[in-house]
Formats: sequence, structure tokens, C-alpha cells
Amino acid sequence: MSGPKPQRKILVGPYLRLAREFALPYRVLIGLAAVLMIAEAALQGLLAYLLDPAIKSLFIVKDPTMLFILPLALLGVMVVKAGVSYGSNVSLARVGQGVVTDLQAAMFAKVTRYDLSQLNAMHSGQLAARFLNDAGLVRESVTKGMQGAVRDALTLVALGVVMFYEDWGLALVITAALPAVALYTLNLGNKSSKAATKSMVSTGDLAIHLSEILDGRRVVKAYRMEDRAIARAGQILAERMKHLMKGAQARAAATPSAEALAGVGVAAVVFYAAYQGMHGTMGVNNFTSFLAAMMFSYQSIRNLSNFYTAMSEGSAAAARSFELLDAQTAVNDAIDARPLVLAPTPPRGAIRFADVTFEYAADSNAALRGVTFDVPPGKMVALVGPSGAGKSTALNLILRFYDVTSGAIEIDGQDLRGVTMASLREQTALVTQEPFLFDDTISANIGCGRPGASQMEIEGAARAAAAHDFIMRLPHGYDTVTGEAGVRLSGGQRQRIAIARAMLRDAPILLLDEATSSLDTESERAVQAALALLMKDRTTLVIAHRLSTVAGADRIVVLDHGRVVEQGTHGELLARGGLYARLYRTQFVDEAEPQAAVAE
Ligand SMILES: Nc1ncnc2c1ncn2[C@@H]1O[C@H](COP(=O)(O)OP(=O)(O)OP(=O)(O)O)[C@@H](O)[C@H]1O
Ligand SMILES: [Mg+2]
Repeated sequence: MSGPKPQRKILVGPYLRLAREFALPYRVLIGLAAVLMIAEAALQGLLAYLLDPAIKSLFIVKDPTMLFILPLALLGVMVVKAGVSYGSNVSLARVGQGVVTDLQAAMFAKVTRYDLSQLNAMHSGQLAARFLNDAGLVRESVTKGMQGAVRDALTLVALGVVMFYEDWGLALVITAALPAVALYTLNLGNKSSKAATKSMVSTGDLAIHLSEILDGRRVVKAYRMEDRAIARAGQILAERMKHLMKGAQARAAATPSAEALAGVGVAAVVFYAAYQGMHGTMGVNNFTSFLAAMMFSYQSIRNLSNFYTAMSEGSAAAARSFELLDAQTAVNDAIDARPLVLAPTPPRGAIRFADVTFEYAADSNAALRGVTFDVPPGKMVALVGPSGAGKSTALNLILRFYDVTSGAIEIDGQDLRGVTMASLREQTALVTQEPFLFDDTISANIGCGRPGASQMEIEGAARAAAAHDFIMRLPHGYDTVTGEAGVRLSGGQRQRIAIARAMLRDAPILLLDEATSSLDTESERAVQAALALLMKDRTTLVIAHRLSTVAGADRIVVLDHGRVVEQGTHGELLARGGLYARLYRTQFVDEAEPQAAVAE
């Protein structure tokens, strides 16, 4: 997602698509609004016109029968116009809000289904700012666009008719001046639109900065980065204010200069009318009606001066939203994808990596190179290796967060690229390296492992994950809200919730990425015992730095720089004296002599 460029053209494509895909459900309401706006325009014209007969019969003819009728008629027109205008504004707002809400819902659904590489490429704060900003611009353009194209344009036509009717010569002169007024307002509109685009970029920066301060609050405090963060915020805010002020200046200039222009118009009309009046061709009734029509058009012209800006910004915002909607996911179900079928009873769920090479980005170093290994059905295999070796990457590929660059991964002989992602993910349970809790209750956080699980089952899973006791000590037990804005849990507590979630899932394939790394020895032992039960008859792939936790694995695969450098049982690998033996010895020394590790 690149930053938005100043947009000063009205793009037609996005509006056509908006109409086709999002406005159709509102066609009745749009029709209603259009009818009401046409009525508004006609009533505005009628109001200007009525002054002519009113002045004539009341001031010139002095007809007493009209004394009540005409003022009442004027009042009637105004009241009806007010009602009509209320109706059209409300129905237009409903259309604008409806279209934009549907658009946002579609965008949300799309972004949620993005694949990992797309999601990694986005900044959450910026996405949120864009999501709200662009929606506002599209809504403005939908409502202002319809008002401009229907109400204001037709009002000008109606008032023009009145002016031509009252004095066509004067009307011609006024009409001739219109292009100059239009050009002038257009120029102001351009300036304010440019400023709006730039201030939007700064708003995005501000959102990014704010979300980073929040997410990184502990680092910010520990490293005393507050002053720098505040200074940076000041910079962004100043930048933003500069652009906002430019826009405000352009908009502020619009009113007085338009008023000055109107003043010139009024002076000219008064002069001309008085001159005509002295020579007897223009009555005061014509003059009043003409002047009223001219003054009324002023409001419509002002509205129309924003029309162009709203439409060009709105079309750019809609185009950006569609870009988000149209982004292609790289990982998709094949057209002929079939559900992943595992045998109904164990042994099942054999995982095979066959010469797998994977690059996160096209021109980056491969995270995995020619990796081949087997996880026999129902067995436990451990992936070990130095940091950055590609262990988490291997798990990402099993879940098809990404597709392999070359080679293949199979589960029970079925190439993952040929099975549906839903069936694959249903039959796997993952505990991620950084356990994530949603801003919800503990029950919900565990329960999302298997939708529909009962409270009993949730508690059972929590007990198995050695989490029940600490959960019961929380202020509201299982109903305690955790996550972003809730009660903070320790790293080890979060891990146990995540393990409970995976246990509840009861899937035949279990993927554990450093699932017990934050636990103390005692809790780890309890969780390991529970996991050992859980792993029975399940195919399990575990990643662990603490090699004592993987010693019991049926097989250990050692990765280094994306390659399998050795594999075998704990005993075999120790005897071999390779990388594993080295890693194991270092840890053994570290754990035996903790001071040595601390001194490092
Ligand atoms: N989302 C990503 N985009 C690009 N490169 C990535 C991404 N995630 C990981 N990598 C790179 O891929 C390589 C393997 O990373 P991976 O996370 O698989 O390592 P790991 O073995 O799990 O390490 P650790 O033990 O530290 O968790 C690293 O060089 C890393 O920089
Ligand atoms: Mg990792």
C-alpha cells in the first residue's frame, strides 16, 4: 500500500463500480432522495418567483384580497420546502452511510482473509486510519455528489429560469460571469483537496506512531524513549497542522471571496435595475424577484464549489478501497481442492517434507533449502536448531500460511496445495511462539480452540494445561477479561492458556512452537505430562530450544541455516557428536552453572 497521491481528477471507474456493487440495494432510497431534491429545486425557484406577484399585487396594485393569501402562500412554500429538504437530507445520509458501511464490511472481510504475507505487509495503525478516512471521503462524495448533481444543479436551473423570466438581458450578463466564478472556486477546491490528501498521510503517520507507542510501551519506558516519542509526535502533528491549515485557508478564502463576488453582482444588478426602472422597463416586482433568485443561487454555487473536491477525493478513496478489495491472495484453495482426509482412527496424520525450499520474498535468502524429513503418524518429532534456522517457518508451511517455493509437503500422502485450507486447519492445533490472547474472557480465549465447547470442556483443557489454578485466582475466574485492554497475564500464563486452547481443539495434528519456553521447571513438568497424554496417537511436531524437553522425541530433526543438518534420536545424535551434541552440551553446561550463563 503506497501513500495516496494528491488526486485532482474525478475517476469515473470507481463510481461506476460503487454504483454497481454497493449502491444497488439503496436504489429505492436514492430514487426517493432524487424526487425530493427535484422538488426542493422547484420550490426554491417558486419562492423566488412568488415575490414578483406578491410585490405587484400588494405594493403596486394594493389588492386587499391578496393581503393574507400571498404571505400565507410564501409561508406555505417555505414550510413545504423545509419538510422536503429534511426528507432528502435524511434519505441521502442513509444512502451515504449505508453504502460506506457495506463497503467497510466488505473491506474488513477481505482483509481478514488476506494471507500472511499480505497481512505482514500492512501496518495496523495505518490500515485503521485509511479504513476510517477513506470511508468518510467516499460518504462525502456520495452525498455531496448527489446533492450537487441533482439538487444544486437543478436549483440553479430553476433560479435561472426565474431570472430569465424577470429580465433576460440582465440574466444573460450574470450567466456570462459564471465561468469566471466557477474557475475561481475550482482553484480553491484544488488547493483544499491537495492539503486534505497530505494531511491524510500525516494522519496515517500519527496512527502508526500512536500504535507503536502503545504496543512497545515497555520498551519505550525501559529505554526512556518518551521524550523522543513526544518530539516525534510533535513533528507529525506540526506537519499535519500545516496541511490542515492550508486546507482551512483555502476553504476560509472561499466564503469571503465568493461574498465579494456576490457583492459585485448585487451592485451591478442594483445599478442596472435602477437605470432600467428610471426608464420604466423594469418594475420593482421584477427587480425583487430577480435579486432573490440571484441571492438564492449563491448558496447553490457555494455548494457546487465543494462538489468537485468531494468527487475527486471520493473517487480516489473509493479507488484505494477497491485496491484493497482486489488484492490477490497468494495462498488460495486450488479450484479442484479437496478436503484433507485422515484415517478415522490412528495411526494417521503422517507429515512429509519432500525437498522443500521456501523464500519469504522472491529475492530474499531462502528460509528453508531442500528440507526433507518425515513425521511418522502418531509420533512426536522435534525440530531444533539455532535461532533463525527456519523452525517456525516449517510450521508456517504446514498450516499453509505460505506455500512452498519448490518441493512439496504432504499429509497422509495428500499434497497440501491440493487440499482445502479449512480442512487442513481444522485438523491441526497450533501453539504459536508468541501466544496471543484476544480482548475477551479467559473462557472465550480457550473456547475459540473449538467453537461450541462446553464450559466443562474448557475447564478440562485448562486443568490439563496447568492453567486452572491460576485462572481461579483471577478476579473473575474464567470470566476475567484478558488481552489488549484486560488483565495482563505473565508470559507463562499466556502460554498455558494457548496450550489449553490447542488441547481443546482435539486435532489429530499438533504443532507446538516453543510452547513451554516461558514456563518454570515445575509448571513445565506439569504441562509436559499433560502434553504427553495429549500427544498419544497424535502426530506432533514440537520446536524447543530447551533440549531437555525434546530428548524424548521419536525423532529429532536438526536445522541450521534452512537445511537439515542431521536427524535421529537423542541418543543417536549425541553419539554422532554433531551440531545437536554441541548444542546439548552447551545447554547442559549453562544449566549446571547458571552463573556462567548470566555472566555472558
Ligand atoms: N515473515 C517473514 N518475512 C521474511 N522473512 C522471515 C519472516 N519470518 C522469518 N523470516 C526469516 O526466515 C528465517 C527463518 O526464520 P524462523 O522464524 O523460521 O526461525 P526459527 O528457527 O523459528 O528461529 P527462532 O528459534 O529464533 O524462533 C530467518 O532468517 C528470518 O529472518
Ligand atoms: Mg521461531
